[in-house]
Amino acid sequence: MKRIGVFTSGGDSPGMNACIRAVVRSAAHYDTEVIGIRRGYQGMIENDMARLEMKDVANIIQYGGTMLKTARSKDFMTEEGRRKAFNHLEKHGIEGLVCIGGDGTYTGALKFYDEFGIPSIGVPGTIDNDLYGTDYTIGYDTAVNTALDAIDRIRDTADSHNRVFFIEVMGRDSGFIALNAGIAGGAESILLPEIMSDFGALISHFENKSRRRKDFSIIVVAEGEKDGNAFEIAKKFQAKFDMYDIRVSVLGHIQRGGKPTANDRILASTLGSAAVKSLLDGVSNMCVGVVNHHVRLTSFSDAINKRKTIDATLWELSKILSH
Ligand code: F6P
Repeated sequence: MKRIGVFTSGGDSPGMNACIRAVVRSAAHYDTEVIGIRRGYQGMIENDMARLEMKDVANIIQYGGTMLKTARSKDFMTEEGRRKAFNHLEKHGIEGLVCIGGDGTYTGALKFYDEFGIPSIGVPGTIDNDLYGTDYTIGYDTAVNTALDAIDRIRDTADSHNRVFFIEVMGRDSGFIALNAGIAGGAESILLPEIMSDFGALISHFENKSRRRKDFSIIVVAEGEKDGNAFEIAKKFQAKFDMYDIRVSVLGHIQRGGKPTANDRILASTLGSAAVKSLLDGVSNMCVGVVNHHVRLTSFSDAINKRKTIDATLWELSKILSH
């Protein structure tokens, strides 16, 4: 391949810039040109793309967000949108794509290949860490550390006022951030979408706890928790325990920004480079990931259809430590 395209799509995540940089520099190493496509699939449809050279990716490794911007394109879900996108790629002589994003990004790439034969390699970029085929996604480590920093701060004020704090962290359908930031932040309870009857367990825990008379508590709730959001859970909790002074804090998009951690920069650099190498080796419809510290390829269909499970040992640990 003489020319490939790179884009970021879906929710941004810290480390995406480091990944773009690795794609451009690795492609240059193999004498391949890179076109940067802005705003993901939407930019492809609107012909919003330009050559990325080495100098264009200098001094970006330390920044969160994505220099290529990102979008969740509704137009790409139509056949007409995909045809326009294909015509623009052809016009620019793009022979393959590196797609940085989550399962929606992979689904788009797979459909695009089926219809127009454009080969793609996916790179997992989402703070949620909910992608099958990789132990870690780009941005997850930063998000956990950002959430942890917020939890530590809230802990100070929770302690001073003897309050029960419900802290909601991101994770649309998954509890990876909640479980890890919860354990690291010494949460008393953690509520995850992957675990049923969390709320019941929380109630029994506090029924026992009231005998122990601990003064303040931190409860971490994953955004996708099935029993409701942090406000709803706090309300139900208050109805049971009117003696507690309760507050809710939703951390939200703070977790999506900021300087990527060293781990995220290294992961992004490793996977961006591996994606280019795979594409140039003729691999397609696969995504790169890191499994047990080794770079692995997983088919798009497995990454989309299989579910990554939370670490059962960590979940058990969280329960042991909260006693
Ligand atoms: O998928 C990443 C994520 O940050 C989820 O944790 C969250 O539910 C969602 O994106 C928020 O999306 P938006 O930025 O469109 O509100």
